Amino acid sequence: MSTTPANPLREGMSSRRPVEPATIVVLGATGDLAKRKLLPALYNLAREGHLPARYAVICFARRPYTDEAFRAEAEQALNEFSRERPGSSEEARAFLEHIYYQQGNLDSVEHFEGLKARTESLEAQLGLPPNRLVYFAIAPEFFNDAIRCLEASRLVVRDTLHRSGPYGRLVVEKPFGNDLESARALNAEILSRYDEAQIFRIDHYLGKETVQNLLAFRFANSIFEPLWSSRYVESVQITVAEDVGMPGRRAQYFDKAGILRDIVQNHALQLLCLTAMEPPASLDAEALRDEKVRLLRAIPVPDADAVARTTVRAQYGPGNIGGKTVPGYLEEELVPQDSTTETYAALRLEVRNWRWAGVPFFIRAGKALAHKATEAVVELNQPPRLLFADPKTPQPATNRLRFRLGQDPGVTLTVQAKRPGEGMVSEPVDLNVDFGRALGPLPLPYERLLGDALAGDNTMFASEEFVEHTWTILDPLLRDPGPVHVYEPGTMGPKEADRLVAGTCCSGWIEPLAPPSDRSA
Ligand code: BG6
Repeated sequence: MSTTPANPLREGMSSRRPVEPATIVVLGATGDLAKRKLLPALYNLAREGHLPARYAVICFARRPYTDEAFRAEAEQALNEFSRERPGSSEEARAFLEHIYYQQGNLDSVEHFEGLKARTESLEAQLGLPPNRLVYFAIAPEFFNDAIRCLEASRLVVRDTLHRSGPYGRLVVEKPFGNDLESARALNAEILSRYDEAQIFRIDHYLGKETVQNLLAFRFANSIFEPLWSSRYVESVQITVAEDVGMPGRRAQYFDKAGILRDIVQNHALQLLCLTAMEPPASLDAEALRDEKVRLLRAIPVPDADAVARTTVRAQYGPGNIGGKTVPGYLEEELVPQDSTTETYAALRLEVRNWRWAGVPFFIRAGKALAHKATEAVVELNQPPRLLFADPKTPQPATNRLRFRLGQDPGVTLTVQAKRPGEGMVSEPVDLNVDFGRALGPLPLPYERLLGDALAGDNTMFASEEFVEHTWTILDPLLRDPGPVHVYEPGTMGPKEADRLVAGTCCSGWIEPLAPPSDRSA
């Protein structure tokens, strides 16, 4: 009898533990995150049978709403933002009946006590055990008050015993601090009240199927591992590019953060870890988290000289993206005119371990660039002799493995093939896998991560140690950030960033593939 070989990714990650009946409390339920991401994600989990038969979602925020009035708002949000637009379907009505609204302030213990009383009364009414998952969909300035009130009200209590009984879990949105010191203080604040096992620090990149596929690619296939080291890899480039600037209200948050804090500290460094870490012994949370932290420890913390040599920061000026005029960052309404916050950053990092010594790792992230793309590109060395080089126009003849992690997800392996006709000259051609086509529709990150949090699986969440190590690497840059250059929107960033990649085999940034819509245009 033939047996299908086990796929570690499938075994380790999709076999969820059964989800127990629970109450989900959303703090900051009238905000954008709740409307755009959380309610649609919960709805899709419900319709696909990933929520338990009995559950309640209590939405907590300052504005006054009745349950009915908030359900109407939630319905609108589903129709606007859910990947499956429900209309007024039976499924949507059934889901909305699980939603309740509780008015309150994030800094009032009394209001949290009211929230607890409401939770208990719903638990009694609906026959729910006191399993409680509290989602902090709130701005960072409210965080400390909210966690203090949560503990004081005893809506969720500390669980040091990792019991198998009712649980209390906290899902926390980024930013996790603003620098190393504040991240440590934040972690200390949370961990003085709750246990690490109760904390789910969300990074939505880890909920992307495409990002998880990086792990599958590396560790469910044996073909790549022999190549995966300084012996064959020339460089690694990680790009997180967006084609919109920073208009509107979000600029208020962004100007305090900048792209280093908004993208590099979390999403980009997670991608770097998944690309470069050692194979974990298993796919459980601890094994994966340990390997990531081990990798981060191998990245030297730069001194001031190294920061100047290996980092470039920039802001977009006025111009246009795809033919549409955009104001410069400093002209955005809520951005101070003298702001030096970077909307683009490029870094050259080293990983000083046996596998990667000598291989440069490049990260670049930016707003208002030529297109939206998230990629990790592993560039392999050239063959020792270029037998197929074109004497007239010598080109680097490398192989390149490109993980397309954003829209248009998939993997492209660029190989050299003989150009047809006379002469023995090669040119690059692509072997391409399109995940959407090959694997079917991919669930969205918040669905995956909320489902994991309800199942108690924190594998795809950031650990305390990960957060602190990433800030350790970035802290010297944040303390002494150097000049901020200007780049034209609709390009791939400032020319000053070219010096970071000079001298590598391809001597330049590898342009991300434009999404299919732009390609056919
Ligand atoms: C968020 C950042 O974490 O990620 C935003 O705060 C950014 O500034 C967003 O736009 C990008 O996410 P995605 O999934 O569209 O690449």
